[in-house]
Formats: sequence, structure tokens, C-alpha cells
Amino acid sequence: MIVSGSASQSLAAALAAEAGLELAPATYDRFPDGEQLVTVPIDADRAIVVAATPTDAACIELLQLQDAVREAGVGTTVTVIPYLGYARQDEAFEAGQPVSARAIARAISTGTDRVLLVNPHAAAVAEYFDVPATSIDAAGCLADPLPDDLAEPLFLAPDENAQSLAETVRDAYGAGEVEYLEKTRLSSTAVEIEWHDRRVADRDVVLVDDIIATGGTMSAAVSALVERGVGRVFAAGVHPVLAGNARVKLARAGVTAVIGTDTLERAETTASVAPAVAEHL
Ligand code: R5P
Repeated sequence: MIVSGSASQSLAAALAAEAGLELAPATYDRFPDGEQLVTVPIDADRAIVVAATPTDAACIELLQLQDAVREAGVGTTVTVIPYLGYARQDEAFEAGQPVSARAIARAISTGTDRVLLVNPHAAAVAEYFDVPATSIDAAGCLADPLPDDLAEPLFLAPDENAQSLAETVRDAYGAGEVEYLEKTRLSSTAVEIEWHDRRVADRDVVLVDDIIATGGTMSAAVSALVERGVGRVFAAGVHPVLAGNARVKLARAGVTAVIGTDTLERAETTASVAPAVAEHL
């Protein structure tokens, strides 16, 4: 039986349909003091808890969902984390700081038999769990919403780390070149992009990254492409966090469309990771 977190209801429903499993009628409430309480009526041998953790509240809710299914006598729990918050804090950056991703992973491990992660920011994050954890590369679905008539398509990663994602999307699309740029992060919201010589004028470019957070990376890349006479430019991110004024930045830069998956439920969610996740259930 699939058990959905409140932030992952569309994906949980898609996964239930994809895998032919029932969706538990979970409900989510809050007490007057702000504390959360989930209720999961469930009678099953196996629970698949599907819950993105983009907020602190969602982390608490996931722990509650796991505990509720154990309390209901479920034998095996699989936890699917479509988007793992805190994954970018995968190390202590200064003395005195925590490895936040590890702390969260340990807490989640206590309530599950195994974990499935969708494109975690760093592969090493999977090692922080105390139970078997598998990383799923679902980036290929970002090709689904792309138009069939891309002109001389170029799949462009904003940095070398995202190159394999760009290759995955190109392979799923079935045509095009792959290239990556050099990115230097100036602050939490601003980046500098070093340009390559690759011709982009009149070509359609698909920028591919794991996360679109503040939109700083994507909007800098879009601006550089527009300056160079690009045709259409699509900003595709597995996890469309789109925090703060990300949409404004991307629109001002001249993006044709933003494409995200259902690891986070946003207006820009036009692709589903459900088929890729279903293969691992
Ligand atoms: C960083 O290494 C990630 O791959 C993304 O490029 C980053 O999270 C994007 O963040 P932002 O949208 O804030 O530039």
C-alpha cells in the first residue's frame, strides 16, 4: 500500500497507478499549537511511504508517517524520498557545523527497512542512511514535455556535475549534443558562468540541472544564451524548488519554459518520476 506525505500526493497517486497498488487514505492535521498529526488507516504487509522533505515540517511528517505504519503492524516499510531536503548540506562546511544530511538520514533510517532517493544532490548522501538506500536517476523523464521539433538541440549542464544528467535527458530525447559550462558560485543566490565556444545562435538549448533552487544558476545561463542569439531555451530541473523570486529571475532572463518533475509539486511540474521509481519498489 502506498502512503503519501502531504507534499507528495500527486506523485504517490501516480506511483500507485503505475505499480497497481492501493493508496492509503492518509490525512494531515495540525493542533492549535502548530504541531502536526497524521492519520494513516492501513492494513497491509508492506507500506511504501512516499514523502518529499522540502521543509522542516515535511521531515517531521515523514517520521510520523513511518511510525504510524509501524504502529499499525505493517511488516515492511519502504521509504521513497522524491526530494531530500538538506541534501546540499552533505558535509560540515566550517568547524562547529553539523553534517545535516547525515543527521536527517539517520533519523529517517529508524523508521524504515530501506530507502529510495530520487536524484539526491550528492550520491554520497545515500551512504548516510543506516538501512539500504538506493539512488534512482529519473532525469530522463525531463525529455517528455520537450517539443518534438527542437532545432539542432544542445543539452547543456551549468556545471560538470550535471553533465551526466544532461546526457540522460539527451538520450531520452533521442537526439542532440551535450556540453557543460563552468560555474563559480559567488553567493547563495548568485553564480558566474564561464562561457564555452559552442555555437548556440538559432539553436534550441535545454539546460539541465538536478535542482532549480533560487534560479540563480539557470537564469545566469539563460541570460548568457539569450545574449548569444539562442533559439528557444528550456530550463529543466529534476527538483523544481523555485524558491523566492526564482520564477521572476528566469522569466526576466528570457527562458522559454521551465520544466520540473513531480518530486516537488509545482506549477512547472510537467514530468513524472513515477515510472522510474516504480521499477525499484
Ligand atoms: C548545485 O550544485 C546544484 O546542482 C544546482 O546547480 C543548484 O542547487 C542550483 O541552485 P540555484 O538555483 O540556487 O542556483
